Amino acid sequence: DHEPLVDAFGRVHTSLRISVTDRCNIRCFYCMPDTALRFLPRSEILTFEEIERLVRILAPLGVSKLRLTGGEPLLRADLAGLVRRLSAIEGVAEVAMTTNGILLAEQAAALKAAGLSRLNISLDAMTEAVFQKISRRAGLDRVIAGIEKAREVGFENIRLNTVAIAGITEPEIVPLVSFARERQMQLRFIEFMPLDGEEQWNSEQVLTGEEIRRTITAALGPLEPAARGDASQPAMDYRFTDGTGSVGFINPVSHPFCGDCNRLRVTAEGKFRNCLFSMVEWDVRELLRSGAADQEIAARVRDCVAAKKPGHGIDDPDFLRPARAMYQIGG
Ligand code: GTP
Ligand code: 5AD
Ligand code: SF4
Repeated sequence: DHEPLVDAFGRVHTSLRISVTDRCNIRCFYCMPDTALRFLPRSEILTFEEIERLVRILAPLGVSKLRLTGGEPLLRADLAGLVRRLSAIEGVAEVAMTTNGILLAEQAAALKAAGLSRLNISLDAMTEAVFQKISRRAGLDRVIAGIEKAREVGFENIRLNTVAIAGITEPEIVPLVSFARERQMQLRFIEFMPLDGEEQWNSEQVLTGEEIRRTITAALGPLEPAARGDASQPAMDYRFTDGTGSVGFINPVSHPFCGDCNRLRVTAEGKFRNCLFSMVEWDVRELLRSGAADQEIAARVRDCVAAKKPGHGIDDPDFLRPARAMYQIGG
């Protein structure tokens, strides 16, 4: 069985986002509640051996791109050890990670040495006050130090992620773009999706990519659409016409990109999801821990792929959000 993971709409799944923990060291309101939380006990979280086995089963089916997420992945002990194991698997072309950057300065060198291909780092603001308004914890200085350290140890094509919130992000847009442009890094503005822990999302808080582009153009000069290498990437890239850099826009709300989706997700406790917004999950931990054969595990992942819907339906009148918030899914 080496058939690719194709869904009912012909989408070929080559990317797996692996959440390694639901814990986090900050409390961004677009992702987590800031109340006493019950995190998963260690025994419920997939071990590195279990994650490695899953990837060994899926790589021959065409899953070549891995992304480690959380929660905050750098809270997992010896994450570099997991990177090393996964990047050694035949067929795995890329092991990337999405992090909030708080612990990155300490770990960047080890991650690079372990073979991590690429880093996406959250950066929602350039001022501590706005950073804290969103994350409800201190730490912008640590994030910036993490970004600088990652560049120093040789990470290339670092992407900065800014979740844009109407009424909060506007004054940060130009400073964020300037920070990235000065360093030749790509920053992507991301539309706020209804996956926040407090279930307060409301379409009026969505600051669209188009609105942000107007602000950037007015302050910093014209942007033009840039060609994309990979149609399955969520970001649309725009470059400054004077050649001084580019900005990305991830617009899942105003311009859904589900038609090109190639992504599968597995939560920290081993449940497969075919979409950020899926209402159903496929448990592979139970199989991993009951002596199931590789084929049974692959078959369950195929069931998950086969059930994928054409799109998230955020705009549908009967849209329902999933029971899990972002930190429990992995982003
Ligand atoms: P690369 O393009 O490979 O650099 O990574 P990425 O942008 O896919 O991953 P990242 O974790 O940096 O995600 C950035 C933003 O895009 C986050 O807000 C994600 O939730 C969002 N995103 C990533 N994949 C999907 C997706 O399949 N669907 C939706 N709706 N949003 C996604
Ligand atoms: N909407 C959009 N993006 C989100 N992220 C977390 N929660 C949301 C949300 N509700 C982003 C994080 C990180 C990535 C994994 O997902 O900022 O960049
Ligand atoms: Fe894929 Fe779901 Fe994201 Fe759409 S919302 S791109 S189907 S994961």
